[in-house]
Amino acid sequence: MSVGYDGIENPGRNDPCWCGSGKKYKKCHQAFDEKLEALWADGEELIDRDLLKTPEDIRGIVASAEVNVGALDYVDEHIKAGVSTEEIDQWVYNYCVEHDAIPADLNFEGYPKSVCTSINEVVCHGIPSPDEILKEGDIINVDMSTIKNGYFSDSSRMYCIGEVDPEWKRLVEVTKQAVEAGLEAIRPWGHLGDVGAAVNKVATDAGFSVVAEYGGHGIGNEFHEDPFVSFVAEAGTGPILVPGMCFTIEPMVNMGDAAIDMSDPNKWTVRTKDRKPTAQWEVQLVVTEDGYQLLSW
Ligand code: MF3
Ligand code: CO
Repeated sequence: MSVGYDGIENPGRNDPCWCGSGKKYKKCHQAFDEKLEALWADGEELIDRDLLKTPEDIRGIVASAEVNVGALDYVDEHIKAGVSTEEIDQWVYNYCVEHDAIPADLNFEGYPKSVCTSINEVVCHGIPSPDEILKEGDIINVDMSTIKNGYFSDSSRMYCIGEVDPEWKRLVEVTKQAVEAGLEAIRPWGHLGDVGAAVNKVATDAGFSVVAEYGGHGIGNEFHEDPFVSFVAEAGTGPILVPGMCFTIEPMVNMGDAAIDMSDPNKWTVRTKDRKPTAQWEVQLVVTEDGYQLLSW
C-alpha cells in the first residue's frame, strides 16, 4: 500500500478507484494521482484529494445550485426601492424551503438570517432588517448560499436601485468584469494565483482597490473548504487548479481604500474604513479537464 502526498492511502492497482467510478484504480485515477505526486515532488501546492469532486458530488452541487440561482433570479424580479432587506430574507427563505433546501447562512456560526444584504459601504455580511429600506441610488449585494441533500452552493449578485451615480455603477460593472476575467484565467493544471491576479488586474486597472482579508473558498460537501481564494495574489503562485476542484470567485472591490472596518457591535457587518462604496459578485465553479463548469451565479 502506498500513501499519497495528502496522507490518503492509494488503492491497489486492481482495487476500485477512490473516485467512486467503480472502475479499477489502474484504469481510472492512477495516472492522475501519479501526476499529482510529480507536481508535489516539484514543490507545488495541492489540495487534498478528498476535496476533489466526483461526478456524483457535482450532480449534487448542481441540484443545490439550481435552488440558489432560482432564489437569486426571484430577487432579480422583485427587488426595488421601498423593499426592506427583511423582505429579501423572507423571499429567499421561502424559495429555499419550497424547493426542499435550507439556506446555508441561517445559524451558520450564529448568523441570524438566511442571506447577506450589503448596501453601499457595507463590504459583506450585512444582516437583513425590517428597518432597512432600499432607496433610489443604493447599490446592494445579495449573497445567497443553499444546502440541498448535504451539498452546498454559494453565489451573489449586485443590484442598482433606480438611478445610481455613474461612478458607483462603474464600480458594480467593473467588479462583474473582474469575476469574468477570473473565470477566463482558469486553466486545468495552472495555478489558483492566475485567477486572483486576473481579478485584481481588472479592478485595480479601473482605479479601484481589492479587499485582502476576504476571498473565495472551496465548497461542496462543506460551506467553506480549502483552498482560500485570494484576490490579491500573483500569477503562477498558490495551489494547482486540479480538475474536480470546486471553489468560488467573489472579490470585494472598493471605490476608495482597501481598508475595512470590522468594529460593528453585531460582530458580522463589515464596512469600508473610508465609508466609500464597495461591490461584490460571486460565482461558484468546478475545474474540468478542459476549463471549468459554472455551477452557481
Ligand atoms: N455567503 C458568504 C460567502 O460567500 C458567507 C456568508 S456567512 C454568513 O462565503 F454567516 F454571514 F451568512
Ligand atoms: Co462564498
